[in-house]
Amino acid sequence: MQRGLDPKQGYARYAHEYDELEKFWDSFEQNKLDPYIAESAGKRVLDAGAGTGRVSLKLHAAGAKVTALDISPEMLAKLHQKEPDIEIVEGDMEDMPFEDEQFDMVFSSLALVHLKKVESFLNECYRVLKDGGKTVLVNIHYRKSMLLKDNQGKYTIEAYNHFPRHLTEAAEKLAFGVEYDEILTEGDDVWVSQMLVLRK
Ligand SMILES: C[S@@+](CC[C@H](N)C(=O)[O-])C[C@H]1O[C@@H](n2cnc3c(N)ncnc32)[C@H](O)[C@@H]1O
Repeated sequence: MQRGLDPKQGYARYAHEYDELEKFWDSFEQNKLDPYIAESAGKRVLDAGAGTGRVSLKLHAAGAKVTALDISPEMLAKLHQKEPDIEIVEGDMEDMPFEDEQFDMVFSSLALVHLKKVESFLNECYRVLKDGGKTVLVNIHYRKSMLLKDNQGKYTIEAYNHFPRHLTEAAEKLAFGVEYDEILTEGDDVWVSQMLVLRK
């Protein structure tokens, strides 16, 4: 099966259009991030797979000191145009360019879907978090891969669904405590996303 473009290439093409679907991206969260965004005030926070800053901007507005990590310089450039005070770092969320125990909270929304496996990313979250720190994840379910189109033609971006139970178990294996775990659904009971909050 064709898996689509890798995220770095894919988001280089998609960056200029990503924000047009903001309401669609928001819909995966159903406002469940709000209390954690409020909790980030005054904290050192990493947004992993931050993209154009949909969540980073809310964290910054709530008073967090935000570092936005993404593999796509084109997505980060959009974020930087909107808010130059947010630190942007180009890099891989599976191999983060940070020292151990730097952050009070790690957020990652809508980005896990681009990783083949979740273990390296979870390991990195654990490593860069301070003791007692929290990881707040929104693990989305793509029912089918999004067909995108630009002047070079049609394309998709590599994506993998991670079943909620698997993600929770992988986190528990790393000694994360599970603070909150909810599967969000739509009318027909198909899962749209998982909200998972982990404590180191
Ligand atoms: C659907 S967007 C989500 C952006 C933002 N978190 C949001 O909620 O709107 C997925 C983002 O993950 C980034 N990404 C994918 N794989 C990555 C990786 N291995 N390391 C860092 N960022 C990655 C992509 O470049 C893209 O910006």
